[in-house]
Amino acid sequence: MLSKIIEEALNKQVTVEASSSQVYLAMASWAETLGFEGVATFMYAHSDEEREHMLKLIKFINERGGHAKVSQLDAPQLNLDLSKKCLKVYFSTK
Ligand SMILES: [Fe+2]
Repeated sequence: MLSKIIEEALNKQVTVEASSSQVYLAMASWAETLGFEGVATFMYAHSDEEREHMLKLIKFINERGGHAKVSQLDAPQLNLDLSKKCLKVYFSTK
């Protein structure tokens, strides 16, 4: 049985993993729309990986008598103009 303190800490981490997955997903979608297919594939894979981390934590909490909580997430705030400039510079030197 998980203590409430541990359950709360793990539930906070569930939210962190979910939020990370959303950030990578937003970056993947953005890169895909600009034609950066390799970057998009990389970001989609990382989004999936963060979601897997979240799912492992949810299972871990629930299997030990806790209750994994799924919280609302804010939309990712990304500085995509800067990212676009970086990618353009990077790919122009290749
Ligand atoms: Fe993670």
